[in-house]
Amino acid sequence: MALVARNAAYARYSDFKVGAALLTKRDKLYLGCNVENISFGLTMCAERVAVGAALTDGSDDFCLIAIIADSKEPVMPCGACRQVLAEFNPSLRIVSSTLRGQTADFRLDELLPHPTQGILG
Ligand code: THU
Repeated sequence: MALVARNAAYARYSDFKVGAALLTKRDKLYLGCNVENISFGLTMCAERVAVGAALTDGSDDFCLIAIIADSKEPVMPCGACRQVLAEFNPSLRIVSSTLRGQTADFRLDELLPHPTQGILG
């Protein structure tokens, strides 16, 4: 389903299409694709678009995110997406695949330890 989401990517500046599928503990699935902007800085990654779709539907109990792109190596979520995903599940499982079938499987807390420590405390 991440691949289906990738087909909707709006990536006219980088031509780098990304799809994401976010699974909840109640077995709901939400999709996201990257949405680029001419300002570059306003570009939204597929992962955060999927989070928005889920929250809009009342879901935030995420257990896994699948990501797919046509890259040499599996894409790792950017720092902003790591922080946004950690808001809901700091140990989220991340499965990232390339179109050629290379897959990486890891946990968000490996990529972003202590995402909230000390903030607003
Ligand atoms: N991108 C994502 O959507 N997710 C990632 O994990 C990495 C990068 C997008 C943002 C931009 O549209 C393009 O890929 C190149 O950075």
